[in-house]
Amino acid sequence: MAHSASGGGHMGENIAMTNVAPENDRGLAGRTVFVSGAGAGIGRGVAEALGAAGAHLALLDLDLAAIEAVAAPLLARGLRVSCHTGDVTSAADVHGAIAQAAQLHGGLDGAVNNAGIVGASADVMDYPAEVFARVLDVNVMGVLHCMQAELAVMKPQGCGAIVNIASAAAIIGWAGQSAYVASKHAVVGLTKTAALEYAAQGIRINAVCPAFIYTDLTAELFQTPGVHDAAVANHPIGRLGQPSEVAEAVMWLLSDRSSFAVGSSLVVDGASTID
Ligand SMILES: NC(=O)c1ccc[n+]([C@@H]2O[C@H](COP(=O)([O-])OP(=O)(O)OC[C@H]3O[C@@H](n4cnc5c(N)ncnc54)[C@H](O)[C@@H]3O)[C@@H](O)[C@H]2O)c1
Repeated sequence: MAHSASGGGHMGENIAMTNVAPENDRGLAGRTVFVSGAGAGIGRGVAEALGAAGAHLALLDLDLAAIEAVAAPLLARGLRVSCHTGDVTSAADVHGAIAQAAQLHGGLDGAVNNAGIVGASADVMDYPAEVFARVLDVNVMGVLHCMQAELAVMKPQGCGAIVNIASAAAIIGWAGQSAYVASKHAVVGLTKTAALEYAAQGIRINAVCPAFIYTDLTAELFQTPGVHDAAVANHPIGRLGQPSEVAEAVMWLLSDRSSFAVGSSLVVDGASTID
């Protein structure tokens, strides 16, 4: 179940203490955003970028020490940050954490459903079925649980912005990664459908589709000789991405600056998915 730690203070005081220049806050200062998988990689990059913009945060991860490390400098700057341990495959964990976060923060303005895993590498014929099911459980059911809990808060509010982290693998095939590709195609389908269902209720739901980003997830893949160089060669920009570059796209979709973007899948991929 969720354990939480939060910084105190009134919202107005907190905003003043963050000292974010108006041109950099993207209208996110003082907003509260939930981020799953915030202990590492893209989720951590998103949480840090949101904190730099003056947003308050509710962070969820399997690894409490990791999110507390992300939270510490933000709490020191006067932001309100709650840390919740939980597994996105557990509806009880997710609903408990998000309900607790909404109570602590007085609502939820945005959410980034980011936690995900890559699974095994094998052709379809040999792909272990139990690993396939696990990848779908984390990457698809995890996003579903998060969206259901977030919508339970946002629908009565009549506003909110949700960003699901899909992947370039939601757009193209990737030999050897059938479970991951299937899961990310599903995230985009879920995003489009939910976007249609809640657009008229003031809730915008979008996805971001990054290509290869340097994180622990890709470090695992790059242990196989040749995979890193092949990945770079597959990105016409000549390099892989950084979590901060995904965070920029996420922050735009969370902010009112993307007010007409609904159900979109924003590709952030160094041109790697262009035919
Ligand atoms: N790194 C890439 O190249 C890349 C590209 C496209 C999409 N993505 C997607 O971005 C998301 C984040 O990837 P990353 O590269 O930052 O991964 P990562 O492995 O570096 O970090 C993932 C974080 O999520 C947490 N997590 C994992 N399973 C969880 C669960 N069941 N419940 C709660 N927390 C859990 C981990 O503890 C970790 O802190 C994933 O959905 C991934 O599919 C990554």
